[in-house]
Amino acid sequence: MSFIHLENVSKKFNPSNYSAVNSVNLEVNQGEIITLLGPSGCGKTTTLRMIAGFEQPTSGRLRIDSKEVFGEHVNIPPEKRGIGMVFQDYALFPHLTIEKNVAFGLNRWKLLDKRKRVKEVLELVGLSEFSKRYPSELSGGQQQRVALARALAPKPHLVLMDEPFSNLDAGLRERMRHDVTSILRKSGTTAIIVTHDQKDAFAVSDQVVVMKDGIIQQIASPKEMYRCPANCFVAQFVGKTNLLEGKVCADMAHVQTRIGMVSLSSKSSELIENVRLSIRPEGCLIGDNGHYSGHVQKVTYSGEYQELEVILGHDHSTSETMLVYAPVEQDVHVGAKVSFDIKPESVALVEA
Ligand SMILES: Nc1ncnc2c1ncn2[C@@H]1O[C@H](COP(=O)(O)OP(=O)(O)O)[C@@H](O)[C@H]1O
Ligand SMILES: [Mg+2]
Repeated sequence: MSFIHLENVSKKFNPSNYSAVNSVNLEVNQGEIITLLGPSGCGKTTTLRMIAGFEQPTSGRLRIDSKEVFGEHVNIPPEKRGIGMVFQDYALFPHLTIEKNVAFGLNRWKLLDKRKRVKEVLELVGLSEFSKRYPSELSGGQQQRVALARALAPKPHLVLMDEPFSNLDAGLRERMRHDVTSILRKSGTTAIIVTHDQKDAFAVSDQVVVMKDGIIQQIASPKEMYRCPANCFVAQFVGKTNLLEGKVCADMAHVQTRIGMVSLSSKSSELIENVRLSIRPEGCLIGDNGHYSGHVQKVTYSGEYQELEVILGHDHSTSETMLVYAPVEQDVHVGAKVSFDIKPESVALVEA
């Protein structure tokens, strides 16, 4: 049985209005780190707040550690759900030292146990030397770790984090993705993290849950999601891609498209007239005698690769623009003719 279970959980803030969260089903195993990923307003925070107990679902059931916390006749208050929460702005108490901030949730603990636990979690987050300082005397990343230590101190079943990395600049953000996951892993804590950033989500999670308009679009590991996105929205949200319409050929292993025949890495299970393909730009390999060819319309240099917009076909009605990545050492310029092949592993059949 899964550790956290959401069953058809919905939320309407206004009874006559749309569902901010629409029939969400989600299972999380013990010790897993999952992220809710999606654009602003898609219902991530609301989902998190319902799990925490700050918001009441309009319908559905919620189980944490095999105990029903919300259901038809059940609504356990937040403080009894055994959850640690890390807020976007960390919400540390400015007038309390770090150790007092961390001890905050332990007021019912015996003094000696409390001291021991505070010492333990400060060690876990690598801030033992800072215990007597105040939050304003710490960097953003350190404050983040204090907030995490405070959430972990009472040994919660589950830690919830809402946009934990959004206040940090790029370099620190990468570091904190690593630090936060390694702290969570070390303590074996199950965690649900909300983010609108695909890189955050991929870097920290076992499973990613993509949401749109309150509805879950796909639940998968980062690799699976990138390689086999369920639909066009997911394909575009988790990376750049080329979306093409096509028709599955009789051999089920190829798709006929406007740019020609495209090979699939595994056969389609159905003979569909109208399919969509997602082709990742890094799967288009530039070479001398590639199967597909066109003219470069735009070159964008990123440092790691060159992003090319290539026009295939002759006239407006048949031409198609493809995004293709070329190695930086490749000599390409606007107007040049290039040819490329497509790696079948970078091709996925997706729903519209
Ligand atoms: N307290 C509230 N009252 C009314 N509408 C709300 C409230 N909180 C969130 N919403 C609406 O619910 C939808 C989902 O919001 P939210 O869960 O905050 O999205 P996200 O965290 O993905 O950006 C949005 O349309 C938002 O405007
Ligand atoms: Mg939010």
